[in-house]
Amino acid sequence: MSGTIETVGVIGAGQMGGGIAQVSAIAGFKVLLYDISAESIEKGLATISGNMARMVGSGKLEEDARQAALARITAAPGMADLATADLVIEAATEDETVKRKIFAQLCPQLNPEAIIATNTSSISITRLASQTDRPERFMGIHFMNPVPVMKLVELVRGIATDDKTFDAAKTFVGKLDKTITVSEDFPAFIVNRILLPMINEAIYTLYEGVGSVDAIDTAMKLGANHPMGPLQLADFIGLDTCLSIMQVLHDGLSDSKYRPCPLLVKYVEAGWLGRKTGRGFYDYRGEHPVPTR
Ligand code: CAA
Repeated sequence: MSGTIETVGVIGAGQMGGGIAQVSAIAGFKVLLYDISAESIEKGLATISGNMARMVGSGKLEEDARQAALARITAAPGMADLATADLVIEAATEDETVKRKIFAQLCPQLNPEAIIATNTSSISITRLASQTDRPERFMGIHFMNPVPVMKLVELVRGIATDDKTFDAAKTFVGKLDKTITVSEDFPAFIVNRILLPMINEAIYTLYEGVGSVDAIDTAMKLGANHPMGPLQLADFIGLDTCLSIMQVLHDGLSDSKYRPCPLLVKYVEAGWLGRKTGRGFYDYRGEHPVPTR
């Protein structure tokens, strides 16, 4: 690698990884898309293709550009298929054990100069970096959901991240036409440190019977001009992800104000994880979402 990022590996073809692959390919990067099964990669590619078709439909992308971008994405069914990446962005489940296993398998496959980034929304970059063979070439590049629409990317250095790595990440994100904010490496960084306690409080408001799902979401949409109500947003993010971010805040800052609402825990235990499983604070299985409380 000459110091320039040309090929980007993305680990995880779900809503975040797929979005990162999409915006990277549209910006002209070669993308290697990895997931644990060929089916997951295929599903991710189909979503990317559909999203790009929607962009063509609304005049945001030319058909030629769509085809060229799709052609720049290659399925990477094995970790060894990421060997030519200059930058690998890990966007797997928000679970530290899963991420550690991924880094253990990934590092031996990569060029020693390659940069590894994690899209973690809350876990310590310094701790994740220490699990790799290259803490100085490791950092957080945190995208927001939906990646193609949201303008912000948080950049987070671990204690060992070197300037060259940080600058390369900054240049890469700039080419995606996103705005960066730089956050210090503390639990949940900036966006989720502020957003998730708000969502958790909305769930307490529901739990304590202050308002219904509909009342809470309507109140925040029309009363605070939020594009989505907090419970709708929780379903959109995924209730398992919301819970794990609250747990990271609670454990990492040892302050009871971050305690996850028992109702959030109950929904996660039920497997009602929001949109992705068809049910959360709303039931998405019919024609229109219906509140579940
Ligand atoms: N993927 C790609 N494009 C999408 C999309 C998706 N999932 N969802 C919507 N879009 C596009 C649409 O195609 C549409 O594009 P056109 O204008 O070209 O048609 C555009 O976004 C607007 O969409 P809609 O008109 O359907 O809907 P909307 O105006 O209600 O906006 C929204 C949808 C952008 C998602 C808006 O509701 C919103 O901003 N919600 C809040 C999102 C948010 O807060 N995200 C941050 C979550 S926190 C996070 O991500 C951090 C973390 O680590 C957990």
